[in-house]
Amino acid sequence: MNVSHETWSSRFVFLMAAVGSAVGLGNIWRFPYLAGENGGGAFVLVYLLCVALIGLPLIVAELVIGRRAKQSAVGSARTVAREAGASGRWVVVGWLGVVAAFLILSYYSVIGGWLLAYLPMTASGAFTGVEGAAVATRFETFLGDPWGMTLAHALFMAATVLIVARGVRAGIEQGVKIMMPALFAILVLLVAYAAVEGEFVRALSFLFTVDFSRIDTEVVINAIGQAFFSLSVGMGAMITYGAYLQRDTDIPSASVTIAVADTAVAILAGLAIFPIVFEVGLDPSGGPGLLFKSLPYAFGHMPLGAAVGALFFLFGLFAALTSSIALLEIVVSWAEEHRGWKRSHAAALIGAVVFVVGLLTVFSFNILPRIAGLGFLKIYGEDPNVFGLLDLLTNNLILPVGGILIALLVGYVMRPEIVREEYGADPLFGAWWALLRYAVPLAIAVVMVFELARPFFA
Ligand code: TRP
Repeated sequence: MNVSHETWSSRFVFLMAAVGSAVGLGNIWRFPYLAGENGGGAFVLVYLLCVALIGLPLIVAELVIGRRAKQSAVGSARTVAREAGASGRWVVVGWLGVVAAFLILSYYSVIGGWLLAYLPMTASGAFTGVEGAAVATRFETFLGDPWGMTLAHALFMAATVLIVARGVRAGIEQGVKIMMPALFAILVLLVAYAAVEGEFVRALSFLFTVDFSRIDTEVVINAIGQAFFSLSVGMGAMITYGAYLQRDTDIPSASVTIAVADTAVAILAGLAIFPIVFEVGLDPSGGPGLLFKSLPYAFGHMPLGAAVGALFFLFGLFAALTSSIALLEIVVSWAEEHRGWKRSHAAALIGAVVFVVGLLTVFSFNILPRIAGLGFLKIYGEDPNVFGLLDLLTNNLILPVGGILIALLVGYVMRPEIVREEYGADPLFGAWWALLRYAVPLAIAVVMVFELARPFFA
């Protein structure tokens, strides 16, 4: 296996790329609707704890593995295990990541397609003056049409493939540098609009008043799953990025930056969306359509709303693309390394297969809405459809298991001196080490066992 010595051109570029991978649909689309479905403040509190106590330590751990081994997730896991004299079977950490990336991308692209479809709709003023109920109906109509959604999914996937095939990292980095701060600015603007025009106080109390009786294992596993998904952790993505990390980059402080930036965008999205949800009387637990049923109303009622809305969807699309290319890259780099495929061929072929698998998600919202055999998903709070199954399988199962394995690999298998060296001089080493060795694997395992066993107690 040849070792790559390529490094990021600067610390800032690394941070932009890592934040770009983390910030995406998980923040603006998934976080708000999960918070809505899982009791608002109860979910937000548990989510913040999961980010700080589980997600953040795992970002550090993944970067440690990557910078030590300087290879893909698959190669790096094997290398650090072998270096410590342990079994090469730890390579499974990398494999799980490749499978997760493939499955996540299949529905990620469909949702990315929703943003793509809403961009021209908003820009053309289709929502100007439209009432809340009609905005929601429009989304339902959109979901009911498999072909429009298929087209949008195809375009999103094609864009992802083109970028990965050419490997135009520089172009992406330049774009990200401008678009990410701009997305942040638009979110602040939307929060300001929501504060003035929407039911802001009610949204604040929904998001930040904690009803402790709402916290059960389902809420906790959903929060863990969301922390993994949103931070891009548990599937080797940060190992891959850590492989290009320079020696002088301080891993703990970079990890804190990634976690804080990602969380800030999620909270802002919540503060932009919920005041409108309450203003127009939408159901906060309405599911994956929440963003598309709430924000277009704001765009339809604020000055210059068509333009601001178009920019929001454009930058949201960009945030989604900087995540989807990372997802495809995980699979493509594996195919290059292990199958010897040419990069462009691998990107096109894998992209095509992901597109076809993604059709199941497209159809799960219309022509095959409920599948009897998937009825068990209801127990776990998911819709019994293909999208619900993939979502549950990846975020609430594969990523948390990946997280446990990564914690064990760094906490018990790798030699402590090596870990210490990569971690650097940061004084919080002891706290991180304890979290990683005890709290992280134990907390995830306990919650998963209870959640899986829940049907038997119910
Ligand atoms: N974090 C991304 C988001 O919030 C989604 C994601 C999950 C991801 N795993 C990833 C992105 C791995 C890149 C690589 O939208």
